[in-house]
Formats: sequence, structure tokens, C-alpha cells
Amino acid sequence: MVFDKLPAKIKRNLTKKMIIAIDGPSGAGKSTLGKMLAKKFNLLYLDTGAMYRAGALAVMRSGISLNDSASVATIVSGSRIELAGSPDALQVLLDGANISDEIRSLEIAQAASIVSTNSDVRRRMVELQRELCNTSGKGCVLEGRDIGTVVFPGADAKFFLTAKPEARATRRFEEDKAKGRVTTYEQTLDEINRRDERDVSRDDSPLSIASDAVVIDTSDLDLSEVFDKMVETIKGLGSAAA
Ligand code: DC
Repeated sequence: MVFDKLPAKIKRNLTKKMIIAIDGPSGAGKSTLGKMLAKKFNLLYLDTGAMYRAGALAVMRSGISLNDSASVATIVSGSRIELAGSPDALQVLLDGANISDEIRSLEIAQAASIVSTNSDVRRRMVELQRELCNTSGKGCVLEGRDIGTVVFPGADAKFFLTAKPEARATRRFEEDKAKGRVTTYEQTLDEINRRDERDVSRDDSPLSIASDAVVIDTSDLDLSEVFDKMVETIKGLGSAAA
């Protein structure tokens, strides 16, 4: 088992429930790398964007306006949002029903970005994310926009993954094409730019780089190169704690 092969210092960190925060804009590789790290170090993987997407779906189904702050907060706080399963087969549940595929549309992405500007919604999500990590028997990898700055400012390792909008749009477009979604590169780039703009400019917990985060621009790097850098940083924590 991988855990047994780790140096003692890293094991010690892992047994005290290591928290790894990964923040950054959409399409920078957070999910793929977050899942890879969770598997390597046997940590719980939390896709916090999926939680905002689930909240957005609940609001859309209710028929109320995404801009009706009070009603949006009521709908989201009355919804049961759960993440279940292993990193590779993560299921997002809304009131017990599997909505994992439904929340991946462009429409839900934009709606999640709007819903996530609501401070009551954010408070509830942050609470839920902390609770999921604190009650889990193991450490966690969380990926999102405010993990290292708000959710777990004391995280053991913080990464900020970024990439040029064009590189992120190309990746997203290729992923969507492979999944059979009908879209164009221009549409994808436009969607990414609109979301970036909203995510960095909102008043509550805007996307920003924690002062102690390791920033990695993934534009011209292979996935394995970024992964190696992240693993190296995490292993370095073991020696820093010696
Ligand atoms: O990571 P994603 O694309 O699935 O996230 C969807 C939206 O949710 C994103 O546009 C901003 C919001 N979000 C957030 O505000 N805070 C997080 N921790 C995660 C996502």
C-alpha cells in the first residue's frame, strides 16, 4: 500500500489529517490533479465547485431568479448536498438523487458562478466543507476558489493553479468534445472569461492567491510535471515538520 512506503515524517502529517488546498480559475487542472493527489496520499477529495453547482441546480429547479438573494439562500440552505464515492467516481447528490452529470452543463456553470456571489450561500457551503473534512477519518484535498484563503487558511499545503485563458479554454473544449457536448472553442473561451470576471470581482471571498500558496502556471506544462511539483511540495512539508 502506498501509505506504508511514505517517509515517517509524511505519515505523521497524514495521520494528523493533512489538508491540501487547491485554488484557481476554471480549467487550470484543479480537479484532475486534486483527484490524483487524493489517490496518491489516500485523502478524501472534495470538489467544492460541484457543491455550488448543486446549489445552483436546486435554485434553477425551484424557478426563482438567481438574483433573488434571500430566496436563493433559503433554497440552498433547505437542500441536502452530498459528495459520495471515491475520487474517480465521485457522485454529487442533491436531496439524495445523483446529479453528477446534470451539473456539468454551461448553464449550471454560469448559474453556480452567480449563486456563489451570495454570502449566505457561501457561509453554508464553507460550514459544510469544514464539517465534511473534520468528520472524515482521513485528511482532505479540497479544490475550489477560496480554500486556502477562507475555508482552511491553515491548510498544510496550498496550491494556486492557473493558466492562460486560451489554454484553459482549449482543455475544456477538448474535454467537452470527448464527452459529446455540443459547443465551440469560442463559446468555451467566452464562458471561461465571463466566469473568471465574476469569480475575481465578487465582494465575498473573491478568487485570490493566498500569500503562502505555491503558484503553478500549467499553460505549458504536462499534467505529470504539475503533479510531480505538487507531490514534491507535499513531501517537503514532511521535512519542514522534522
Ligand atoms: O470549479 P467549478 O467550475 O465547478 O465551480 C463552479 C462555480 O462555483 C465557480 O464559477 C465559482 C464557484 N465556486 C466558488 O465560488 N467557490 C468555490 N470554492 C468553488 C466554486
